[in-house]
Amino acid sequence: MSKQTEKIKALVEKRELARLGGGQKAIDKQHERGKYTARERIEMLVDKGSFEEYDMFKLHRCHNFGMEKKQYLGDGVVAGSATINGRLVYLYAQDFTVNGGSLSETMAQKICKVMDMAMTNGAPVICMNDSGGARIQEGISALAGYGEIFERNILASGVIPQISSILGPCAGGAVYSPALTDFIIMKEQTSYMFLTGPKVVKTVTGEDIDAEHLGGASVHASKSGVTSFTAKTEEEAMDLIKKLLSYIPSNNREEAPRVECTDPIDRKEDLLNEIIPDDPNQAYDMYKVIQAVTDNGEFFEVQPKFAKNIITGFARFNGQSVGIVANQPSAYAGVLDVNASRKGARFVRFCDAFNIPIVSLVDVPGFLPGTGQEYNAVILHGAQLLYAYGEATVPKITITLRKSYGGSHIVMGCKQLRSDLNFAWPSAEIAVMGASGAVAVLCGREAKEVKEQGGDVKQFLAEKEEEYSEKFANPYQAAQFGYIDDVIEPRNTRFRICRGLAQLAHKKQDLPAKKHGCMPM
Ligand code: HXC
Repeated sequence: MSKQTEKIKALVEKRELARLGGGQKAIDKQHERGKYTARERIEMLVDKGSFEEYDMFKLHRCHNFGMEKKQYLGDGVVAGSATINGRLVYLYAQDFTVNGGSLSETMAQKICKVMDMAMTNGAPVICMNDSGGARIQEGISALAGYGEIFERNILASGVIPQISSILGPCAGGAVYSPALTDFIIMKEQTSYMFLTGPKVVKTVTGEDIDAEHLGGASVHASKSGVTSFTAKTEEEAMDLIKKLLSYIPSNNREEAPRVECTDPIDRKEDLLNEIIPDDPNQAYDMYKVIQAVTDNGEFFEVQPKFAKNIITGFARFNGQSVGIVANQPSAYAGVLDVNASRKGARFVRFCDAFNIPIVSLVDVPGFLPGTGQEYNAVILHGAQLLYAYGEATVPKITITLRKSYGGSHIVMGCKQLRSDLNFAWPSAEIAVMGASGAVAVLCGREAKEVKEQGGDVKQFLAEKEEEYSEKFANPYQAAQFGYIDDVIEPRNTRFRICRGLAQLAHKKQDLPAKKHGCMPM
């Protein structure tokens, strides 16, 4: 065997060793925990044979607490580039088989390298988290490593899409890297995210709680809104990432990939002419409207279990990716509150940063009143949504289906927030408030007089409400002032959106020069 051949053989062996991570025993244990290894996860996600690994031979440099004996090629993260459906991505997967995936200085360097490459080459970065957090034996060097990653998350925000999948533990300050990314996917049952674990919680607050109830996928999907998606299996998590990528561009200079559309853009949906109930207090399902107007009825929902009174997600019109924001009358009457505002604002900002037009479907009775909301700063969070809409310069099309009252009318993509096309259905009610509220304010004194004179107060109020509704509970006052560009037949909604998007394809709008705004938070 020539020297060259020997060296090549040694390389192949070294690679094989590196691919074993923390060794077969640790891999078996990982499988017993119901989890895949870092490399298995990458293989599941990327196009076959496309993964190119970097820093496979990198080693940590720690000598504390016997760490010299815990040396594995590549240390606790697998990092590199690959393609997903032919598109370049950079990715890293923490390897729990190596020292619990705990983050060393060396691992942070590997992660930062792929993040830098992603920025240079304008490609999304995807991380797969499964780690015990900062490597305790390395002390401040591990913490500094997190700092380096966080800074890159911040600089990459709005430049390249960043997606985090949480497939195991993610605790302490480590949660901030995923939190700084655009989307989080949590695997049910085997993953959790929290700043302090159950033991510390018990010591500090006396609260008895397990990891799942403190920071499991279901908690973050429905209560905190930290995660954008949950997945029952790791396979499902990878499929969600692929689907998400199909709707978004690779960077903020590109458009989202366009797909061929076989669904006629002038498809009329008679169902929509019937969907609004006669009773203004009766709900209907906004998902049916979304399904009726989008290409092939497809909708990829973001945060489906959180703040169900507002719906956010991606769809396509004539093959073009758009972000849909819609009030949901069948969840708390579609009212806006703290969580709905946060959810909507975050989504609108993502779409705007990545050149994805926003289509808003409005049926909103107002903001939820009360101390519960006021004490939790509904003013600031409502303003957040308002700010996001007002700042967005992507094409914006707003369709008002029914109620659009008061502050919530302004917030949900009104004309004055530089919305491009505002259409209303004939059932739209664009006013300061609903009829009963308005009459209670305007006619209180008169109602008292009617009562004193022995008249029928109920009938009096009903007549006044009728009068108010006739004057204000319609789209024509807004149309009269040009705040609504057209009143449209509901079944034509898909066509009007498709034509609107085509018209706005080359929209160019700027914001005043500034370092950055001070968004209310
Ligand atoms: C070094 C660690 C480690 C860590 C786990 N390991 N976490 N090594 N630093 N942070 C090692 C274990 O010693 C063990 O090594 C191997 O990984 C597997 O861990 P196990 O405990 O056997 O696994 P399991 O029972 O599944 O428990 C997993 C775990 C637990 C829940 C993650 O290991 C744990 O509680 N780890 C500590 C978590 C933590 O408090 N981290 C600090 C968070 S604060 P051997 O050699 O025995 O196989 C933080 C600050 C970040 O991260 C700040 C950023 C600003």
